[in-house]
Amino acid sequence: MGLKYCAVFVLWFASIVCGQLCPKQCDCDMEDGLNRATCSNQNIIEVDVGVPRIVQVYSLSHNAITELDNFCYKEIGYSSLKILNLSYNLIYWIGLHAFAGLEELVQLDLSNNRLRDIQSDLFSDTPKLDILDLSGNIFETLKNEPFIIHDKLQVLNLQNCRIKLFPERLFKRLPNLKKLDLSQNYIISFKTVVLEPLRKLTRLELKNDYLKCSSEFIAAEAWIVSREISYSKQCRRSRPKMLERMISVVEENKAVDINDVWNVTQTVKKNTTLPAVTRDTNRTLTPFEKFDKDFSAVQALIMGLEIGLGIGIIGTYIWLREICKCRKWNCIKTQTERQRRRAQRVADGDMRANLLWSNVVNPDLATPPQIRRELSLPDGSTQFRAQRIAVDAVRLPPDRCETPPPPYHECRINI
Ligand SMILES: *[C@@H]1O[C@H](CO)[C@@H](O)[C@H](O)[C@H]1NC(C)=O
Ligand SMILES: *[C@@H]1O[C@H](CO)[C@@H](O)[C@H](O)[C@H]1NC(C)=O
Ligand SMILES: *[C@@H]1O[C@H](CO)[C@@H](O)[C@H](O)[C@H]1NC(C)=O
Ligand SMILES: *[C@@H]1O[C@H](CO)[C@@H](O)[C@H](O)[C@H]1NC(C)=O
Repeated sequence: MGLKYCAVFVLWFASIVCGQLCPKQCDCDMEDGLNRATCSNQNIIEVDVGVPRIVQVYSLSHNAITELDNFCYKEIGYSSLKILNLSYNLIYWIGLHAFAGLEELVQLDLSNNRLRDIQSDLFSDTPKLDILDLSGNIFETLKNEPFIIHDKLQVLNLQNCRIKLFPERLFKRLPNLKKLDLSQNYIISFKTVVLEPLRKLTRLELKNDYLKCSSEFIAAEAWIVSREISYSKQCRRSRPKMLERMISVVEENKAVDINDVWNVTQTVKKNTTLPAVTRDTNRTLTPFEKFDKDFSAVQALIMGLEIGLGIGIIGTYIWLREICKCRKWNCIKTQTERQRRRAQRVADGDMRANLLWSNVVNPDLATPPQIRRELSLPDGSTQFRAQRIAVDAVRLPPDRCETPPPPYHECRINI
């Protein structure tokens, strides 16, 4: 009994002193001859979970760490750490000396956190840092000053960080950088000045959905390729080039119809529709085209005025001749007076005759309009079209126990 307690105590003491037990939240194994501890998806909120100090590859990804305090690793004594994975946490703040004591650290993964800003000399305590992943953070607006100061860093990932602009001095203090990923940000333009300090750059990713293929950006891409940086272009040159040529042709001879220019360039390129061009130039012109070709605008205006004047004169002459057949100026008045009187007399006679006729032939077809007479018929037979509509309009839902108003046609019968 006493022996058992003693053994437990010894084990506990050993674990405290040497830290040789793998914590329950973690998996400890070997990878490429390195001691690895993987403590993912454990809702860990602190860096210190009791992983032995001799860990070399340490992953704390998919946890809930929010801050990295100054000297947090140095206090634990992780001096042999080579790869540290802090991705998919909630880190928004990192103390300036958070990575102090990690002198062997080569690779640091801080991707998919909530960083908005980092201090440029944050990694001065990790002199061997080679690969840094900051993708998936929220840097948005960067100041025009060195983002990171580090002599050794070779790979930097700034993908998907909502960055709107890369200021000129951003990468001024990364002399050894070889691979840079700036893709999937919010930039709409890019200046090569940003890349000029990166003399060792061999690979660049710049795929951004919002980037416009402006002439400036096309030039930037050409510059990048000329520096022998491995890079896949976003803008194809051919289309803007063709546009430029088209515009220049139009500007040179403004008199030429654009359609002709299009067909000429097409046939020159394709070398098949040469007969089409001759046909086009030889084609008989329509009268309008011919007119367009032969006369200038001023000439056309004068011609139009002359023609209009001529038509007006002839028209006026014919009109006067038709109206005043007797060729006297007062004849118009007397004739119209006489005509008007005669016309009135005819109209009066017509009206009287009509009234007489309708009264004699069918006497009760007179004053009230058709529809009212139909409604007031007493026997409610098939003609009651208007009545049916009225009854429908006042029908109530069956469950309501109000007395409905009297049907429409009853009111009308009393009229
Ligand atoms: C860090 O962990 C994430 C998620 O497990 C993984 O995708 C990523 O590759 C890891 N980073 C490194 C450098 O191993
Ligand atoms: C001229 O080009 C237009 C389109 O640019 C085409 O529709 C038309 O058929 C062409 N005309 C000839 C004669 O080739
Ligand atoms: C035009 O095309 C014909 C064949 O369609 C070819 O024989 C000829 O050499 C071409 N001319 C030029 C100038 O390319
Ligand atoms: C087009 O014009 C040329 C010379 O002006 C002439 O030789 C040719 O016969 C004409 N073609 C047609 C289809 O009228």
